[in-house]
Amino acid sequence: MDSPHDDGFASEMAELPLETRYPPFALRQYAGFWLPERTLARGLPAARDRFAPRPDDVLLASFPKSGTTWLKALAFATARRAAHPPSAHDHPLRQRNPHDCVPFLGIGFALDKDVELEALPSPRVLATHLPFSLLPTGRSRVVYVCRDPKDVLVSCWLFTRKVSESVGVDAESFSLREAMELFCAGRCMYGPQWLHVAEYWEASRRAAGEVLFLRYEEMLRDPVGSLRTMAEFMGCAFSPEEEERGVARAIVELCSLDKLKKVEANRKGRTAAGIKADAYFRKGVAGDWSSHMTPEMGKMVDEAVEDGLQGSGFSF
Ligand code: A3P
Repeated sequence: MDSPHDDGFASEMAELPLETRYPPFALRQYAGFWLPERTLARGLPAARDRFAPRPDDVLLASFPKSGTTWLKALAFATARRAAHPPSAHDHPLRQRNPHDCVPFLGIGFALDKDVELEALPSPRVLATHLPFSLLPTGRSRVVYVCRDPKDVLVSCWLFTRKVSESVGVDAESFSLREAMELFCAGRCMYGPQWLHVAEYWEASRRAAGEVLFLRYEEMLRDPVGSLRTMAEFMGCAFSPEEEERGVARAIVELCSLDKLKKVEANRKGRTAAGIKADAYFRKGVAGDWSSHMTPEMGKMVDEAVEDGLQGSGFSF
């Protein structure tokens, strides 16, 4: 099998193990992960071949439904605060969905969207769901957010049902139990989730200056503290004068779920990728899995994750 660098890869993808039960996309197993076919055939090679990294790039990485939208909003508002103070009434996050402020590396290419990465001002803030082991080489700093797998699973299942029609797939009959069984087998988009998390966690331990590992639940507990840590890591720490003016707090407020939910583009619009923007904003709490799954289902997920993490040194 060629690597995704090679031209022949797209045609050879047909040889890879296939999973079609988790809507909306067909997945192929590559390098230990289940990736959407289009990401594998086009997004990954494009991200590797056409992406010219800059030393001050910040790459936001996550497993889907782990807080990507929030992380994008916070990082964008922080990196661009000189041009767009959080109090500005025309702040981009008051006009556009966070996914249209921070492009996905790989997915943009996979969707045939012309992502003008070269035109973005430095420091660029980009995002990816790719596992650490499949990231393009030469990138600089990575901020990763991880989340309790049970909340990820429930959030993902609800999101899938909500947006599948955007891509012409009917996910109504896709039950949570079925989603859970596939999730536990690692056979979901970018899964296994625990392997995705463990790779980034390992990388953050090896090179703390290159990978910052955040937890969604800790961000909920202490959003301002988490933002300060992130700003410092991104090389744009809040100055004492900014702290005095409450800039970090203002960014947290601007990016809060309540505020983002009220933005018209997020209530009524679609993202540039064609997804209903309101689908990205739901409850935004820790532990909501128990409103949808039985304790027995929760235990099954915990056991699958614990099994998968054995020997990794990481635990949720
Ligand atoms: P729930 O479905 O549990 O509510 P992603 O952005 O990776 O797709 O993850 C989506 C999850 O993040 C959803 O979780 C969503 O509600 C939550 N979320 C979106 N914006 C948020 C914000 N500003 N603050 C906290 N959580 C947010």
